Amino acid sequence: QAIKVFVSSVIPTVGTDLLKAAGFTVSTWDNLTPIPRNILLGKAKESNALLATLTGRLDATFMDECKHLDVISNFGVGYDNIDIAAATSQGIQVGNTPGVLTDATADVAFGLMIAASRKMFYMHKKILEGNWKHFTPTENLGIELKNKTLGIFGLGRIGIEMAKRCKGSYNMKVIYHNRKRNTAAEELLNAKYVSFSELLQQSDVLSVHSAFTEDVRGIFDKAAFDQMKPASIFINTSRGGVHNEQDLIDALNNRKIWGAGLDVTNPEPMQKDNPLLNMDTVAILPHIGSATEEARNGMSRLAAENIIGFYQNGKVPNLVNPQVLQE
Ligand code: GLV
Ligand code: GLV
Repeated sequence: QAIKVFVSSVIPTVGTDLLKAAGFTVSTWDNLTPIPRNILLGKAKESNALLATLTGRLDATFMDECKHLDVISNFGVGYDNIDIAAATSQGIQVGNTPGVLTDATADVAFGLMIAASRKMFYMHKKILEGNWKHFTPTENLGIELKNKTLGIFGLGRIGIEMAKRCKGSYNMKVIYHNRKRNTAAEELLNAKYVSFSELLQQSDVLSVHSAFTEDVRGIFDKAAFDQMKPASIFINTSRGGVHNEQDLIDALNNRKIWGAGLDVTNPEPMQKDNPLLNMDTVAILPHIGSATEEARNGMSRLAAENIIGFYQNGKVPNLVNPQVLQE
């Protein structure tokens, strides 16, 4: 009997085509809205492998009910939607899609930085409101980025690409804070490792690129923003849970920091009456970091290859829980 794969959202066809070509029986949630949990659970129960996305929370209860699954392949580089410890204890291999969305996401971080620094989204909104009045020498002033200090929180693949863009375009100095030092990246970027406090105190632009884990939940809170420079810009393209959104709003209102650019919010989706949407130095996007043709096709391919690799070689190529192999 053919292996059954359930794909829990609409994805670019390259992935589903690969799965079908590998001989699997593929079924898909064909609606653009997130799959309801009971349907996801029912489908997962009938399947051998699941290709999931970050809108579906796969918690310990899910793992308990679906312990028969061989593989969960997450369409995304982040996998904070999945209880990895629970998957591991049920013997389920979990895969993700790193690398293919690195440039796309770094582009969004870089774009948000420029947009915030020049109040671009807010100015656009003024035009839409019929408020393009006249050229005013002392109004609408932004700040420049040349020779400033870029602080990266979580210097991995995406952070490195953001740093390269900032160095190349603005000759920015790079400092970073990680759980573990990244000496290869230090050499590549001439980047300096600093403590979290130093990162807060020295960055003119502070860009978040870390994975979302419990130890970074809400780490950008009042205490953190209070340490930042009044002229600094906070950028988050990782996960909204890394920042405390009310504290961010307060920090901007109280001029603790100058601006912010967010591709991820806390919670998502952001409601349209959120005060951040009315601030001139803030630029917000609706979680589109990886939304390019190239990146999404690549993610679709890698997500499928994780499943195919498991059935061909017994191991998911981009495995995020290698501990499972020891169980
Ligand atoms: C998207 O946010 C991802 O983690 O790939
Ligand atoms: C994710 O791909 C990262 O390493 O930043």
